[in-house]
Amino acid sequence: MHTMRLSAEDPAAPAIAAELIRKGELVAIPTETVYGLGADGLNEAAVAKIFQVKGRPQDNPLILHVTGAEQIALFCHDVPQAAYRLAERFWPGPLTMVLPARDLVPRRTTAGLSTVAVRCPDCAATREIIRLAGVPIAAPSANLSGKPSTTTAAHVLHDHDGRIAAVVDGGPCRVGVESTIVDLTEQPPRLLRPGGVTPEQLKAVLGELAVDRAVVAPIDQDAVVKAPGMKYRHYAPQCQVLIVSGTRSQAASYIHAHFAPGDRVLCFAEELPLYENCAPLAYGREDDAATLSAGLFAALRQLDDPSVNRVFARCPQGGGVAYAVENRLKKAAAFQIIDPEADT
Ligand code: TXA
Ligand code: MG
Repeated sequence: MHTMRLSAEDPAAPAIAAELIRKGELVAIPTETVYGLGADGLNEAAVAKIFQVKGRPQDNPLILHVTGAEQIALFCHDVPQAAYRLAERFWPGPLTMVLPARDLVPRRTTAGLSTVAVRCPDCAATREIIRLAGVPIAAPSANLSGKPSTTTAAHVLHDHDGRIAAVVDGGPCRVGVESTIVDLTEQPPRLLRPGGVTPEQLKAVLGELAVDRAVVAPIDQDAVVKAPGMKYRHYAPQCQVLIVSGTRSQAASYIHAHFAPGDRVLCFAEELPLYENCAPLAYGREDDAATLSAGLFAALRQLDDPSVNRVFARCPQGGGVAYAVENRLKKAAAFQIIDPEADT
């Protein structure tokens, strides 16, 4: 199959992409978070192709991308007022809401759950594709299952060239990590995945917010978890990733003592001078967490190379979007965290 390259700036692109979606084809779509691997979310056969091409486990449900709050009630029932308050405040934007699913949403899309995740992406071309297609677009992150997410069209083509009908190039994704997921079928609402909309921002609208344990701790493969996607080792290059905590100088001492040929260091830009002989790669600035989220997946992809043996990684701490970066990096590291103080 030839994969068509479309530009989000080409006024003809949304209609071409929408036509492909209507025909049941796969189209990779840009969003402000990461690129999605899109298909008609109401078409079981099209949705099945997503799972097949991505190599995604069948028990991992998909997000339905919609044009805005006016579409929530088309696909969800018993929608609480809180959903509309959140949509009003954060849509279009990096927030996904889990709500009870209407029967027209195929069980293949929801992986058999009675709930469905909905989100309105902050990308005009993609909303136009959804509008013209006349159906919600089901889209997981466009990476091959388990790999770091795709934040450029080149990443998408690396994973799927020749296997999907088209990719719409909207440039590098602004946020760079996937949307925040909040489950509104529970009281209090529960954070299932941190992202560009921060827990602090959610609390300001919702009052109370529970945090799912999958966000902060490793999950047993057999465990029943609220967001099935959170239990897999994820976002990971093929080699081992080890997070080295501690202060800048503690981490640098540890890494210098253990560094071997073939290892790499994934660090903050401020730390580059500390690792001159350790093949360092900076993914953003520690003092500006938005640069870390925007750069994380491109850096993890660069490290996904057979020549790389191990990655020593520096992980941000704190609230805001740093919390989402911390979550993704810990999952990429399968929660292997070295405390240099304890390890002397
Ligand atoms: O930013 C994003 O959300 C991107 C872009 C493309 O929109 N999409 C994305 O999709 O990250 P994906 O499939 O990589 O991650 C979706 C997560 C998975 O962890 C999945 O288990 C969870 O959402 N999820 C989907 N439907 C759910 C539901 N009904 N209940 C709980 N979790 C759900
Ligand atoms: Mg994903």
